[in-house]
Amino acid sequence: MSRPQKQQTPLSANALNTNEPETISEKASMPSKKVIHLMLDAGRSSIKYQAFVNNETGTTYFDKAQQPPVMKTESLVCCVPSVPFGELGAFSLSRAKDENNKDVVEHWVVGSSARLQGKEYIAMSDSENYKVDYFPVLALGAIASLPNLLELSTGTSDKRRTLHIRLSTLSLASPLSLKKAIEQCKWIAVDGVRYRLCFSKQGFLGFPEGYGASLWASERFDDKQFHTFDIGYGTATISEYSNLGKLPKRVTCSPNGGGGVATLIKEFSLALSHTDSSKMIRPSQLREILETATVGDAGISAIAPDGENIGAELENAIHSWMKDSPLAYALDDISVKARRSKVALCGGAFAIAPVQMLVKERLLKASIPESNLLIPENPGTVALSEMKKLYEWRNDRC
Ligand SMILES: Nc1ncnc2c1ncn2[C@@H]1O[C@H](COP(=O)(O)OP(=O)(O)OP(=O)(O)O)[C@@H](O)[C@H]1O
Ligand SMILES: [Mg+2]
Repeated sequence: MSRPQKQQTPLSANALNTNEPETISEKASMPSKKVIHLMLDAGRSSIKYQAFVNNETGTTYFDKAQQPPVMKTESLVCCVPSVPFGELGAFSLSRAKDENNKDVVEHWVVGSSARLQGKEYIAMSDSENYKVDYFPVLALGAIASLPNLLELSTGTSDKRRTLHIRLSTLSLASPLSLKKAIEQCKWIAVDGVRYRLCFSKQGFLGFPEGYGASLWASERFDDKQFHTFDIGYGTATISEYSNLGKLPKRVTCSPNGGGGVATLIKEFSLALSHTDSSKMIRPSQLREILETATVGDAGISAIAPDGENIGAELENAIHSWMKDSPLAYALDDISVKARRSKVALCGGAFAIAPVQMLVKERLLKASIPESNLLIPENPGTVALSEMKKLYEWRNDRC
């Protein structure tokens, strides 16, 4: 099952798109054009995004000594009557004209600040299709949250600027429908500056959700094929990749909807309803308790607001989740597949220490060789952070 060691040469994203023409507006603005490369993974619990500029001089977006960081914003949106000033993720947008051919303007707040608007906000976890339906708002919320948006824009006026964006998305949805939806957005206004949006045709590569994890795995595995197992908020997705060429290629994918952390939180809440602590724990706190739970010599530790250790309840909840939810099918499936194939374990669930321990334990019980299970250093963001390998920005840095 072994193949010759791969060359570790960075791949050019331009090389991936040789047949695609540039937009007219991009050509017109040459040579001073700055193009923001934005990688976006708009998930049910969080939007993960990474941006850098790769223009003629190869300038990167952040400090040249550093890699562009992966930024994270909660997947919450709130439509507001007017845009609040000084709040992260607040912006106005126009994506339609009224009967007098005037721009119809919407005001949104995306991220944790959506909770502060005194209006009902929408969580992407509230419904199956929300992360696709609200994709343009989530994407523009990520753009509006970029710390130096002004610097990344072009134009001579201080108040009317242009953003050239090459957007690459990781999604289970059709890239064409996402592209169509976001291209209706003509401008956004952030902090009193209006930015015309110019989306490059070279973006929208529509990578499989979790593709960065396959890039991470393909650098480490020599096998002809491997799997990724991504436990997110809604899904527990098993993907099979062929690893024969320069780039891994997805062969199969089963999302196992309902197998994600959302179901674990319900199980945790149920397990706690039998204890006194439940009286004091709000659902949002429960998620935080889960995310900060630890594993030590004394077992699982999860601390309730009253200081009580509810690790035993968490352990019960994880066991129920693994036995009595679509995660159980996913675990059965991967238990068979991983006997002969290496698996990269990723998704935010593997960033939760007790989940990582118990899921791994469950897989090892199914006679999977331990050497077939690999967990990246940042399992929650690897699907996005490794995407930068597709670009030659590293080489361009001076
Ligand atoms: N760094 C972290 N530490 C602890 N827990 C984390 C971390 N990152 C994510 N999680 C937990 O894992 C859950 C799933 O996170 P993830 O980012 O994979 O979901 P998502 O991509 O938004 O969801 P989906 O893929 O289903 O759309 C989160 O709801 C959170 O509770
Ligand atoms: Mg995800």
